[in-house]
Amino acid sequence: MKNENLESVARKLVAAGKGILAADESSPTIEKRLKNIDVVSTEDSRRAYREVLFTTAGAGEFISGVILFDETIRQKTRDGRSFVAALEQQAIIPGIKVDKGAKPMANFPGEKITEGLDGLRDRLAEYRQLGSRFAKWRAVITIGEGIPTRTCIDTDAELLARYAALSQEADLVPIVEPEVLMDGAHTIERHFEVTEQTLRRVFQALAAHRVVLEAMLLKSNMVLSGKDCAQQASVQEVAEATLRCMKRMVPTAVPGLVFLSGGQTDVQATEHLNAMNRLDQVPWQLSFSFGRALQAPVLKTWKGDPANAADATGIPPPRLVQQ
Ligand code: 13P
Repeated sequence: MKNENLESVARKLVAAGKGILAADESSPTIEKRLKNIDVVSTEDSRRAYREVLFTTAGAGEFISGVILFDETIRQKTRDGRSFVAALEQQAIIPGIKVDKGAKPMANFPGEKITEGLDGLRDRLAEYRQLGSRFAKWRAVITIGEGIPTRTCIDTDAELLARYAALSQEADLVPIVEPEVLMDGAHTIERHFEVTEQTLRRVFQALAAHRVVLEAMLLKSNMVLSGKDCAQQASVQEVAEATLRCMKRMVPTAVPGLVFLSGGQTDVQATEHLNAMNRLDQVPWQLSFSFGRALQAPVLKTWKGDPANAADATGIPPPRLVQQ
Protein backbone atom coordinates (compact mmCIF):
# COMPACT_ATOMS: atom_id res chain seq x y z
CA MET A 1 0.00 0.00 0.00
CA LYS A 2 2.78 2.36 1.02
CA ASN A 3 4.76 1.55 -2.13
CA GLU A 4 1.66 2.10 -4.27
CA ASN A 5 1.57 5.70 -3.06
CA LEU A 6 5.26 6.13 -3.69
CA GLU A 7 4.93 4.66 -7.16
CA SER A 8 2.12 7.04 -7.96
CA VAL A 9 4.17 10.06 -6.78
CA ALA A 10 7.14 8.85 -8.86
CA ARG A 11 4.94 8.57 -11.95
CA LYS A 12 3.41 12.02 -11.36
CA LEU A 13 6.89 13.53 -11.19
CA VAL A 14 7.54 12.32 -14.73
CA ALA A 15 4.06 12.99 -16.17
CA ALA A 16 4.18 13.71 -19.92
CA GLY A 17 5.41 17.21 -20.72
CA LYS A 18 6.52 17.93 -17.15
CA GLY A 19 9.80 17.89 -15.27
CA ILE A 20 11.43 18.93 -12.01
CA LEU A 21 12.88 22.28 -10.99
CA ALA A 22 15.98 21.82 -8.82
CA ALA A 23 15.96 24.83 -6.48
CA ASP A 24 17.91 23.14 -3.70
CA GLU A 25 21.17 25.06 -3.84
CA SER A 26 22.95 25.02 -0.51
CA SER A 27 23.68 28.41 1.09
CA PRO A 28 27.22 28.73 -0.39
CA THR A 29 25.96 27.78 -3.88
CA ILE A 30 23.00 30.18 -3.91
CA GLU A 31 25.34 32.88 -2.64
CA LYS A 32 27.46 32.39 -5.80
CA ARG A 33 24.39 32.52 -8.07
CA LEU A 34 23.10 35.71 -6.42
CA LYS A 35 26.54 37.31 -6.46
CA ASN A 36 26.56 36.92 -10.25
CA ILE A 37 23.60 39.32 -10.42
CA ASP A 38 25.04 41.61 -7.69
CA VAL A 39 22.60 40.53 -5.02
CA VAL A 40 23.87 39.94 -1.48
CA SER A 41 22.77 36.57 -0.14
CA THR A 42 20.66 37.04 2.99
CA GLU A 43 17.84 34.89 4.28
CA ASP A 44 15.39 37.38 2.82
CA SER A 45 17.03 37.75 -0.61
CA ARG A 46 17.14 33.97 -0.92
CA ARG A 47 13.48 33.82 0.13
CA ALA A 48 12.47 36.56 -2.33
CA TYR A 49 14.28 34.84 -5.19
CA ARG A 50 12.71 31.47 -4.45
CA GLU A 51 9.29 33.13 -4.22
CA VAL A 52 9.79 34.43 -7.78
CA LEU A 53 10.48 30.86 -8.90
CA PHE A 54 7.63 29.20 -7.04
CA THR A 55 4.87 31.70 -7.80
CA THR A 56 5.47 31.85 -11.55
CA ALA A 57 2.03 31.88 -13.15
CA GLY A 58 1.21 28.58 -14.84
CA ALA A 59 4.41 26.86 -13.62
CA GLY A 60 2.37 23.79 -12.70
CA GLU A 61 1.67 23.19 -16.37
CA PHE A 62 5.33 22.29 -16.97
CA ILE A 63 6.84 21.70 -13.54
CA SER A 64 5.80 18.52 -11.73
CA GLY A 65 7.98 18.96 -8.65
CA VAL A 66 10.45 21.30 -7.00
CA ILE A 67 13.48 20.24 -4.96
CA LEU A 68 13.83 22.52 -1.93
CA PHE A 69 16.71 23.14 0.47
CA ASP A 70 16.36 22.78 4.26
CA GLU A 71 16.06 26.55 4.74
CA THR A 72 13.58 26.93 1.86
CA ILE A 73 11.10 24.27 2.98
CA ARG A 74 10.60 26.34 6.15
CA GLN A 75 10.06 29.68 4.36
CA LYS A 76 6.92 31.53 3.32
CA THR A 77 5.67 33.78 0.52
CA ARG A 78 5.20 37.49 1.25
CA ASP A 79 1.49 36.85 1.69
CA GLY A 80 2.21 34.30 4.42
CA ARG A 81 1.71 30.96 2.67
CA SER A 82 4.35 28.31 3.29
CA PHE A 83 6.33 27.59 0.12
CA VAL A 84 5.03 24.01 0.36
CA ALA A 85 1.42 25.31 0.27
CA ALA A 86 2.19 27.76 -2.56
CA LEU A 87 3.62 24.91 -4.65
CA GLU A 88 0.72 22.61 -3.87
CA GLN A 89 -1.69 25.35 -4.98
CA GLN A 90 -0.02 25.09 -8.40
CA ALA A 91 -0.29 21.26 -8.24
CA ILE A 92 3.52 21.06 -7.91
CA ILE A 93 4.93 18.33 -5.66
CA PRO A 94 7.42 19.57 -3.03
CA GLY A 95 10.65 17.62 -2.52
CA ILE A 96 13.83 18.10 -0.51
CA LYS A 97 17.59 17.75 -0.87
CA VAL A 98 18.72 15.55 2.02
CA ASP A 99 22.43 15.04 1.48
CA LYS A 100 24.88 17.32 3.25
CA GLY A 101 27.10 17.92 0.27
CA ALA A 102 30.03 16.29 -1.51
CA LYS A 103 33.22 16.62 0.58
CA PRO A 104 36.86 15.73 -0.21
CA MET A 105 37.35 11.98 0.22
CA ALA A 106 40.04 11.07 2.75
CA ASN A 107 43.04 9.32 1.09
CA PHE A 108 41.63 9.90 -2.42
CA PRO A 109 42.98 13.20 -3.77
CA GLY A 110 40.66 14.87 -6.27
CA GLU A 111 37.65 12.71 -5.37
CA LYS A 112 34.58 13.54 -3.32
CA ILE A 113 32.21 11.62 -1.16
CA THR A 114 28.72 12.70 -0.16
CA GLU A 115 27.92 13.15 3.53
CA GLY A 116 24.60 13.09 5.34
CA LEU A 117 23.59 9.57 6.45
CA ASP A 118 23.98 10.24 10.18
CA GLY A 119 20.61 11.20 11.61
CA LEU A 120 18.99 10.91 8.20
CA ARG A 121 16.07 8.78 9.41
CA ASP A 122 14.93 11.56 11.77
CA ARG A 123 15.46 14.30 9.19
CA LEU A 124 13.43 12.37 6.61
CA ALA A 125 10.55 11.99 9.09
CA GLU A 126 10.58 15.75 9.71
CA TYR A 127 10.65 16.59 5.99
CA ARG A 128 7.72 14.23 5.36
CA GLN A 129 5.89 16.03 8.15
CA LEU A 130 6.65 19.40 6.53
CA GLY A 131 4.98 18.20 3.32
CA SER A 132 7.82 16.83 1.25
CA ARG A 133 6.89 13.85 -0.94
CA PHE A 134 10.28 13.06 -2.42
CA ALA A 135 13.96 13.37 -1.52
CA LYS A 136 17.18 13.87 -3.44
CA TRP A 137 20.79 12.82 -2.76
CA ARG A 138 23.65 13.75 -5.08
CA ALA A 139 26.90 11.84 -5.47
CA VAL A 140 29.71 13.44 -7.46
CA ILE A 141 32.12 11.45 -9.62
CA THR A 142 35.10 13.32 -11.08
CA ILE A 143 37.01 12.26 -14.20
CA GLY A 144 40.73 13.00 -14.22
CA GLU A 145 44.20 11.49 -14.20
CA GLY A 146 43.74 8.06 -12.55
CA ILE A 147 40.25 8.89 -11.27
CA PRO A 148 37.54 7.95 -10.57
CA THR A 149 38.69 5.04 -8.43
CA ARG A 150 36.63 1.95 -7.85
CA THR A 151 36.60 2.79 -4.13
CA CYS A 152 35.00 6.19 -4.74
CA ILE A 153 32.33 4.81 -7.08
CA ASP A 154 31.53 1.88 -4.78
CA THR A 155 31.29 4.04 -1.67
CA ASP A 156 29.06 6.60 -3.34
CA ALA A 157 26.84 3.82 -4.74
CA GLU A 158 26.49 2.30 -1.28
CA LEU A 159 25.59 5.66 0.25
CA LEU A 160 23.00 6.34 -2.47
CA ALA A 161 21.41 2.96 -1.83
CA ARG A 162 21.29 3.48 1.96
CA TYR A 163 19.68 6.88 1.47
CA ALA A 164 17.18 5.47 -1.06
CA ALA A 165 16.14 2.66 1.31
CA LEU A 166 15.68 5.11 4.20
CA SER A 167 13.66 7.46 1.98
CA GLN A 168 11.23 4.75 0.93
CA GLU A 169 10.89 3.70 4.57
CA ALA A 170 9.95 7.32 5.38
CA ASP A 171 7.34 7.44 2.57
CA LEU A 172 9.46 9.63 0.31
CA VAL A 173 10.33 8.85 -3.31
CA PRO A 174 14.12 8.81 -3.63
CA ILE A 175 15.67 10.63 -6.54
CA VAL A 176 18.98 8.88 -6.93
CA GLU A 177 21.58 11.23 -8.40
CA PRO A 178 25.01 9.95 -9.32
CA GLU A 179 26.53 12.86 -11.27
CA VAL A 180 29.58 12.16 -13.41
CA LEU A 181 30.90 15.69 -13.87
CA MET A 182 31.42 17.18 -17.32
CA ASP A 183 34.40 19.21 -16.03
CA GLY A 184 37.67 18.26 -17.71
CA ALA A 185 39.15 17.55 -21.12
CA HIS A 186 37.90 13.95 -21.42
CA THR A 187 36.21 12.64 -24.55
CA ILE A 188 32.55 11.63 -24.78
CA GLU A 189 33.72 8.00 -24.92
CA ARG A 190 35.43 8.37 -21.54
CA HIS A 191 32.33 10.03 -20.07
CA PHE A 192 30.25 7.13 -21.42
CA GLU A 193 32.56 4.56 -19.82
CA VAL A 194 32.55 6.22 -16.39
CA THR A 195 28.78 6.84 -16.46
CA GLU A 196 28.28 3.17 -17.38
CA GLN A 197 30.52 1.94 -14.53
CA THR A 198 28.84 4.26 -12.07
CA LEU A 199 25.28 3.28 -12.99
CA ARG A 200 26.20 -0.41 -12.89
CA ARG A 201 27.44 -0.07 -9.32
CA VAL A 202 24.53 2.13 -8.28
CA PHE A 203 21.91 -0.35 -9.49
CA GLN A 204 23.79 -3.26 -7.90
CA ALA A 205 23.77 -1.40 -4.58
CA LEU A 206 20.10 -0.45 -4.92
CA ALA A 207 19.23 -4.13 -5.48
CA ALA A 208 21.37 -5.22 -2.52
CA HIS A 209 19.54 -2.72 -0.30
CA ARG A 210 16.12 -3.90 -1.61
CA VAL A 211 15.14 -0.52 -2.96
CA VAL A 212 11.85 -0.68 -4.90
CA LEU A 213 12.79 0.47 -8.38
CA GLU A 214 9.20 1.36 -9.35
CA ALA A 215 9.14 3.85 -6.48
CA MET A 216 12.27 5.86 -7.33
CA LEU A 217 13.62 8.05 -10.11
CA LEU A 218 17.13 8.22 -11.53
CA LYS A 219 18.70 11.64 -11.90
CA SER A 220 21.63 11.15 -14.24
CA ASN A 221 24.09 13.29 -16.11
CA MET A 222 23.83 13.21 -19.88
CA VAL A 223 26.82 11.60 -21.65
CA LEU A 224 28.89 14.54 -22.97
CA SER A 225 32.31 15.61 -24.14
CA GLY A 226 34.28 17.15 -21.27
CA LYS A 227 33.86 20.93 -21.09
CA ASP A 228 37.51 21.43 -22.14
CA CYS A 229 37.66 18.66 -24.75
CA ALA A 230 38.74 20.01 -28.14
CA GLN A 231 36.35 17.70 -29.95
CA GLN A 232 32.78 18.53 -28.87
CA ALA A 233 30.12 15.92 -29.70
CA SER A 234 27.07 17.06 -31.67
CA VAL A 235 23.55 17.20 -30.21
CA GLN A 236 22.66 13.97 -31.99
CA GLU A 237 25.80 12.21 -30.73
CA VAL A 238 25.05 13.25 -27.14
CA ALA A 239 21.46 12.04 -27.41
CA GLU A 240 22.52 8.69 -28.90
CA ALA A 241 25.38 8.08 -26.46
CA THR A 242 23.22 8.98 -23.47
CA LEU A 243 20.38 6.66 -24.45
CA ARG A 244 22.76 3.83 -25.35
CA CYS A 245 24.30 4.10 -21.89
CA MET A 246 20.93 4.32 -20.10
CA LYS A 247 19.49 1.35 -22.03
CA ARG A 248 22.49 -0.71 -21.03
CA MET A 249 22.35 0.15 -17.35
CA VAL A 250 18.91 1.29 -16.14
CA PRO A 251 16.29 -1.38 -15.40
CA THR A 252 12.93 -0.84 -17.09
CA ALA A 253 11.14 -0.96 -13.71
CA VAL A 254 12.38 2.59 -13.03
CA PRO A 255 9.53 4.87 -14.14
CA GLY A 256 11.60 7.83 -15.25
CA LEU A 257 14.94 9.44 -15.87
CA VAL A 258 15.26 13.11 -15.00
CA PHE A 259 18.49 14.58 -16.31
CA LEU A 260 20.54 17.23 -14.55
CA SER A 261 21.98 20.08 -16.61
CA GLY A 262 25.39 19.96 -14.92
CA GLY A 263 26.82 23.20 -16.28
CA GLN A 264 25.41 23.05 -19.81
CA THR A 265 23.64 26.21 -20.93
CA ASP A 266 19.85 26.22 -20.87
CA VAL A 267 19.78 25.89 -24.68
CA GLN A 268 22.27 22.98 -24.81
CA ALA A 269 20.55 21.02 -22.04
CA THR A 270 17.14 21.49 -23.64
CA GLU A 271 18.37 20.59 -27.13
CA HIS A 272 19.95 17.40 -25.83
CA LEU A 273 16.80 16.34 -23.99
CA ASN A 274 14.66 17.19 -26.98
CA ALA A 275 16.89 15.11 -29.28
CA MET A 276 16.67 12.15 -26.90
CA ASN A 277 12.90 12.32 -26.85
CA ARG A 278 12.90 12.30 -30.68
CA LEU A 279 15.03 9.17 -30.85
CA ASP A 280 13.57 5.69 -30.56
CA GLN A 281 11.13 4.40 -27.98
CA VAL A 282 12.55 3.92 -24.50
CA PRO A 283 10.92 2.17 -21.54
CA TRP A 284 11.06 5.22 -19.26
CA GLN A 285 9.77 8.76 -19.29
CA LEU A 286 12.68 11.06 -20.15
CA SER A 287 12.54 14.44 -18.52
CA PHE A 288 14.54 17.07 -16.69
CA SER A 289 15.51 17.99 -13.17
CA PHE A 290 17.44 21.09 -14.12
CA GLY A 291 18.86 23.62 -11.72
CA ARG A 292 21.06 26.04 -13.63
CA ALA A 293 19.42 25.40 -17.02
CA LEU A 294 16.02 26.47 -15.69
CA GLN A 295 17.13 29.24 -13.36
CA ALA A 296 19.69 31.11 -15.47
CA PRO A 297 17.07 33.10 -17.47
CA VAL A 298 15.08 33.86 -14.29
CA LEU A 299 18.13 35.21 -12.44
CA LYS A 300 19.04 37.36 -15.44
CA THR A 301 15.52 38.83 -15.65
CA TRP A 302 14.91 39.31 -11.93
CA LYS A 303 18.29 40.80 -10.91
CA GLY A 304 17.07 41.16 -7.35
CA ASP A 305 14.62 43.95 -8.18
CA PRO A 306 10.98 43.32 -7.14
CA ALA A 307 9.89 45.47 -10.08
CA ASN A 308 11.28 42.78 -12.42
CA ALA A 309 9.30 40.01 -10.74
CA ALA A 310 6.43 40.51 -13.17
CA ASP A 311 8.72 39.71 -16.11
CA ALA A 312 10.36 36.85 -14.25
CA THR A 313 7.13 35.20 -13.08
CA GLY A 314 4.47 36.46 -15.43
CA ILE A 315 2.51 38.07 -12.56
CA PRO A 316 2.72 41.62 -11.20
CA PRO A 317 4.84 41.95 -8.04
CA PRO A 318 2.97 42.92 -4.86
CA ARG A 319 4.43 46.44 -4.90
CA LEU A 320 2.95 47.20 -8.32
CA VAL A 321 -0.44 45.74 -7.40
CA GLN A 322 -0.74 48.18 -4.50
CA GLN A 323 -0.12 51.29 -6.63
P1 13P B 1 22.04 21.41 -12.41
O1 13P B 1 20.92 21.13 -13.39
O2 13P B 1 22.38 22.85 -12.30
O3 13P B 1 23.21 20.51 -12.63
O4 13P B 1 21.47 21.07 -10.97
C1 13P B 1 20.75 19.94 -10.79
C2 13P B 1 20.93 19.46 -9.40
O5 13P B 1 19.98 19.26 -8.67
C3 13P B 1 22.28 19.16 -8.91
O6 13P B 1 22.17 18.42 -7.75
